[in-house]
Amino acid sequence: MRLFRFIRGSGSFKMYYRLLNELYKVVYGRNLMLHFPFYMNDQESFEQRQINLVEHCISRFSDFSNKTLLEVGCGNGANCHYISSEHPNIQVIGIDLNRENIEIAIENQSTDKIKFIVDDAQKLEHIDDNSIDLLICIESALHYPDKHEFFNQIKRVLRPDGEFVIADILRRSEDRGRSLWWWKKSMLLYHTNEEDYLGYADGNQLKYNTSQDITNEIVQGYQGHKSWISRENRSWSSYILLQFTLFVLVRLYLKELRKHKKYMVFSGEHS
Ligand SMILES: C[S@@+](CC[C@H](N)C(=O)[O-])C[C@H]1O[C@@H](n2cnc3c(N)ncnc32)[C@H](O)[C@@H]1O
Repeated sequence: MRLFRFIRGSGSFKMYYRLLNELYKVVYGRNLMLHFPFYMNDQESFEQRQINLVEHCISRFSDFSNKTLLEVGCGNGANCHYISSEHPNIQVIGIDLNRENIEIAIENQSTDKIKFIVDDAQKLEHIDDNSIDLLICIESALHYPDKHEFFNQIKRVLRPDGEFVIADILRRSEDRGRSLWWWKKSMLLYHTNEEDYLGYADGNQLKYNTSQDITNEIVQGYQGHKSWISRENRSWSSYILLQFTLFVLVRLYLKELRKHKKYMVFSGEHS
């Protein structure tokens, strides 16, 4: 039944994230990050590989002391909770367009050092000019139809010495973007290519310090996925159903990553 709802739900952006959150609850008993896993070694759990991606992104920042960090498209808040626990001296703000994700983020909140707000990355109506030192956006920009406006907002909210990191799934230049069009339309998928990304920064007087293709690490991140769902305390039928759901999702993600997409991390600052 859940599998059926998942397949049906994947026809809508909001429903997809609702069901992904539910799936994590069923499999792990808690909310996990909503992004792809990043491989570092064979022994890691899925959760550790998701943490690896956050660590990989925030390692681009030069300094955390007493900074204000904004996560744009923070999902269920798991990244913000993790970053705050690793860097308790910073203020963290997480914004997301999806109210349900923000509600989950607030439910799981255990410190007043984090603030979660419903907002649109292309407007950032609740974020003041020049108020942010560190800005991250992990696997969210692919949903923004107007990335120029998103970059305008980065420019506006970042302090003069502020830094940003964006991890995003891009269309390969040779890909015409016609695959899975039905899924893209309902999931609000607006992938662009690397050339476009360079233009978004230039056009907003921002500059990239690094840009890195991490597609291989993400593809490898799915290694050993059969061990991610344990058999313990589950009926055979729900175990098989969950494994099948995971199998379908992994096939879908890997096909896209190997054939049509690449996973990039950009870091930068004001130019
Ligand atoms: C794949 S999830 C990633 C969430 C989180 N960054 C993480 O790594 O776990 C993408 C998130 O982007 C959010 N999102 C999509 N469009 C948005 C927009 N225009 N403004 C803010 N958030 C948006 C979605 O609601 C979703 O929570």
